[in-house]
Amino acid sequence: MAKCEGGVPEHISGIDRAIVSKVIVFNIILFTSLLQVIIPSFKLNSGHEIPALGYGTWLGINDKDEFDYSDWDKMLKTLSYCIDVGYRHIDTAHLYRVEPDIGEVVNRKIKEGVVTREEMFITTKVWQHFHREADVEVSVRGSLRRLGLEYLDMVLVHWPMSISEEGVDEKIDYLETWRGFESVLSKGLVRSIGVSNFNVEQLKRLVANCKVKPAVNQVELNLAFGQKELVDYCNTQNIKITAWAPFGAMITSRAPPDAPGPRVDDLTLVAIAKKYGKTVMQVTLRYLYQRGIITIPKTVTPGRVLENASIFDFELTTSEFSTIAKFDVNYRSNRPTFWQNYTNYPFEKYDVPESPIPESLRKWKNGKNNDME
Ligand SMILES: NC(=O)c1ccc[n+]([C@@H]2O[C@H](COP(=O)([O-])OP(=O)(O)OC[C@H]3O[C@@H](n4cnc5c(N)ncnc54)[C@H](OP(=O)(O)O)[C@@H]3O)[C@@H](O)[C@H]2O)c1
Repeated sequence: MAKCEGGVPEHISGIDRAIVSKVIVFNIILFTSLLQVIIPSFKLNSGHEIPALGYGTWLGINDKDEFDYSDWDKMLKTLSYCIDVGYRHIDTAHLYRVEPDIGEVVNRKIKEGVVTREEMFITTKVWQHFHREADVEVSVRGSLRRLGLEYLDMVLVHWPMSISEEGVDEKIDYLETWRGFESVLSKGLVRSIGVSNFNVEQLKRLVANCKVKPAVNQVELNLAFGQKELVDYCNTQNIKITAWAPFGAMITSRAPPDAPGPRVDDLTLVAIAKKYGKTVMQVTLRYLYQRGIITIPKTVTPGRVLENASIFDFELTTSEFSTIAKFDVNYRSNRPTFWQNYTNYPFEKYDVPESPIPESLRKWKNGKNNDME
């Protein structure tokens, strides 16, 4: 068998070789351009549109409680592919340490003409160390600089608690933090503002005491953790919910030992998926979309990029929808109990021994990029 270089068989030479090469490149471009997804949008209370599905960029922390850099390159390649095939919404955060790299990919795609800045929707988040009113602008301007952007589409208060790098409870009221958010909005640094990991009581208090209502609350939400009360309240206020960890404990290797189903091989979900020629993950994301929820699944596997976004060409029936709704057993799979004694911790507390905050969630500002201030 003749060896191929650049896909061109060895026995083809000279001008023919150049032509064959061009044909191969053309076909690759054609193939990629055919593999496009069109992702619909939801309207936010700010008047702006947000794509109903985005790309999540949190790489997580490893067994040693360190930030996990192992999939860094894969994630950036996958992100680049995402934009090529039609993703327009990226979810990131100051904490994730990836803003400079995300910005590099986005700006390259804009330069290459694949996408315009206006077509992209970029969300980042302000970390717990920046909750004083004046610090919000410092954080947002830092994110803009790291991302190489002139404005952000959305900035979220990452968590309601304010904690210093040393782990000290700063007890700053999130109403103060929110005033900083309203200020960066009025200065045009960001187009919509929102919160993350706020419970219903915190949201009600914020709504009662703000000039600008949050456009979004980003929380853990998946089949086993449907967050009905929170979603119902947000619907009355026209606040959209974005689901982080949309797959929850479905992936066995990621599931805590006591986690209830469904898992990816659940027979009910498999049957529904089969009916539509879809996967269980697609059925999951479709169900969340039909609930009016924005999702931001993370994957570093290019093959899953199109899978996760190919959910807008089928519709679950009312009966299938009700069947899937029954998986909701109010099970939270992510429990950051190391924060549970801090002021404004938003979740239920568990009877577990006190443990320190992982270093990677505190003294992280000079991470891999050495430019996180
Ligand atoms: N606001 C917050 O506090 C907060 C907290 C956590 C996360 N987030 C955001 O939410 C995003 C998503 O949450 P997450 O990353 O925790 O959880 P997730 O998206 O529910 O799950 C990610 C996992 O699912 C796998 N996966 C993705 N697509 C799949 C598919 N089609 N089939 C099988 N497995 C698939 C990924 O594997 P591979 O990567 O190996 O493909 C990865 O292991 C984050 O990236 C981040 O942007 C926000």
